[in-house]
Amino acid sequence: MSSDLERRAKRVLSPLPGRYTWLPLDRGEGSWLITKDGRRVLDLTCGIAVTNVGHAHPKVVRAVSEQAAKLMHISTGVATYESNIALAEALGTVTPRGLDTVFFGNSGAEAVEAAIKLSRQYTKRQAIIAFRGSFHGRTAGALTVTTSKSSYRLGYGAMLPEVYIAPYPYAVTCPIKPAHDMKTCAEHCLAELEMMFEHEVPPEHVAAILIEPVLGEGGYVAPPSSFLVALRDIATRIGALLVMDEVQTGFGRTGAWFATQKHGVDPDILVIAKALGGGMPLGAIVTSRAMQDKWISGTHGSTFGGNPVSCAAGLATFEIIRDEGLVARAERLGELMVTELAPLRSDPRVREIRRFGAMVAIEFDAKATAKAAIAGALEHDVLLITCGAHDQAVRFIPALNIAEDDLRKGVRALVEAHRSAAVATPA
Ligand SMILES: Cc1ncc(COP(=O)(O)O)c(C=O)c1O
Repeated sequence: MSSDLERRAKRVLSPLPGRYTWLPLDRGEGSWLITKDGRRVLDLTCGIAVTNVGHAHPKVVRAVSEQAAKLMHISTGVATYESNIALAEALGTVTPRGLDTVFFGNSGAEAVEAAIKLSRQYTKRQAIIAFRGSFHGRTAGALTVTTSKSSYRLGYGAMLPEVYIAPYPYAVTCPIKPAHDMKTCAEHCLAELEMMFEHEVPPEHVAAILIEPVLGEGGYVAPPSSFLVALRDIATRIGALLVMDEVQTGFGRTGAWFATQKHGVDPDILVIAKALGGGMPLGAIVTSRAMQDKWISGTHGSTFGGNPVSCAAGLATFEIIRDEGLVARAERLGELMVTELAPLRSDPRVREIRRFGAMVAIEFDAKATAKAAIAGALEHDVLLITCGAHDQAVRFIPALNIAEDDLRKGVRALVEAHRSAAVATPA
């Protein structure tokens, strides 16, 4: 039965966004969502990798309300205030080597736009190399480098010029036979990239190589570190920038502050958003001071970017992640999830179980299988979402401070839901 909220939403809100559920929410508390009629649902989505410290963490709520009472908005170009500076200072203590200067925007897509613009202006080159299966956002520039699903481009016509798409290692879906492992897949991808320099884009045209250190929307796929190390070397060799999109992987999610650190690679531009604002809209790029000193003043900007309240929420979230040891905890949570999923390893409908820190996915044979599993889990009050080009994978994105018992129950709900659905529709 549809709720009052659903009926009203259908009258006045655009039907455009894809929707997983119509759960009529009243509030969130830690890892739990509470509906208008009092149903408690375990949130294993974190609002798509945003609420890494859970919903309504008292320290974040306090920081937001105190900042809102003091100064809600002024715009960075108009005056100077504490919270964006304090957040940038804090970020500088954990960002990859040499990255200490922050430009704030409002979202992931906006941060990607900033990275593309800065790369082009700084290098005086045009070409951007991105990777098949990546998601970088929905604005026109970010969409041009997004290839996680071709449907995102439907009907939108010409995109940015000078964008080249290289393959991303993803062995389990690779159509090239014989079946091969990720290391071999990564070697093929690197060979393809070198071929692109011979046939499609002269290396001296390349402004940036832009990559997610773990595919997010594209399926929670981690390449071997050797792949990213090689990209670092290639970028340096051809005089291009290496841009790491950590919008989904950042802030402890992978068992490091940033996944690129776990891979042992230092990018030139770090792109962040989602958990950065702890639930408030916030995005940023972080680079060396030298690079941003060369970004011609006034050639990019934003009214709301680095908003005082968003930055206060971001700083409180940062401090919770740091002070409560949540980066290290991500590994434990990841191990717990994979242990609980283990009984499905031999299931004929399961193609792969993947983990990089607390980024865990189970890839099924088809979208219908993944959707049936998350629908079954929701019947048991566990909220999960999918990823992958065909929504064939279920991803687990728990808050990094979730109670282990809750997480265990949540994963078990998915396992049981899949088993029941499989009995109902044998393979
Ligand atoms: C890796 C990555 N980059 C960029 C974006 C775009 O972020 P936003 O939705 O905040 O524009 C996303 C969103 O899912 C993402 O996962």
